[in-house]
Amino acid sequence: MGFSYKIILISLLFLYSCDDFFLSDKDECGVIGGDNSSCMDECGVVNGNGIPEGYCDCEGNVLGCDGQCGSGQEYDLCGVCNGNAVSQYSCDCDDPQEIRDCLGQCGGLATIDQCGICNGDNSLCTGCMISGSDNFSANNIIANNELCFVDYTSSIQTIFDNHCTPCHGGGAVNLESYFNTINSDIIQIGDSSNSRLWQVIEGDSPSMPPSGPLNNSDVRKIALWIYFGAQESN
Ligand code: HEC
Repeated sequence: MGFSYKIILISLLFLYSCDDFFLSDKDECGVIGGDNSSCMDECGVVNGNGIPEGYCDCEGNVLGCDGQCGSGQEYDLCGVCNGNAVSQYSCDCDDPQEIRDCLGQCGGLATIDQCGICNGDNSLCTGCMISGSDNFSANNIIANNELCFVDYTSSIQTIFDNHCTPCHGGGAVNLESYFNTINSDIIQIGDSSNSRLWQVIEGDSPSMPPSGPLNNSDVRKIALWIYFGAQESN
């Protein structure tokens, strides 16, 4: 029993090495002494299955959109075979080479202006880019600084009420209302640096308020309010 088992094992090892020895004489098609021709496809590819994927012949040509192998014709952006469209937005223009403008006109010249308006003349950006003013907007593309304002009631009178009117609720310098402020002879309209109001909050003697200076933002608001015309709230 044990002996015949050993014989079988030795024979198997021998057969295996013989097979290995013969394999080296086979071609890629598995034919002993062959030249690969038995399994070569029309394109000369061993074990190939004809024309390579994506190609229409053995020359490596692609099928054109006109149905001709290797014509090189392709669909354009509008899906037209061998077309010359320049943009998919132009597909229904008479001439697909014309680009549609922002109004949708084929070959038109309307563009989007700096305010983001199609065919605009840059006049519709409103707002103000002077920081410190009440309608400051960092998002404006065009600064329309003529529209800048500082609102008297909410910005200026509030500063006066918080820091000045306890002492200036009457007398020569009366800061209790727009009317009184403008008539206190401390403002040169449009000219902050020559206005007494600005000079005293900027540190000129007597520095106001006596308890210590206003914060920079309040000083700047008062300066801008005078600069913009010292106007009353609407
Ligand atoms: C604690 C009281 C007090 C407060 C608060 C105060 N002032 Fe005065 N202010 C005075 C006095 C007192 C004078 C007059 C002092 C002088 O002439 O030396 C004066 C004078 C002034 C003058 C005239 C200065 C000149 O010589 O032309 C202006 C303008 C003025 N204050 C503005 C302000 C403003 C604006 C605030 C608030 C931001 C303010 N004051 C807050 C007491 C105060």
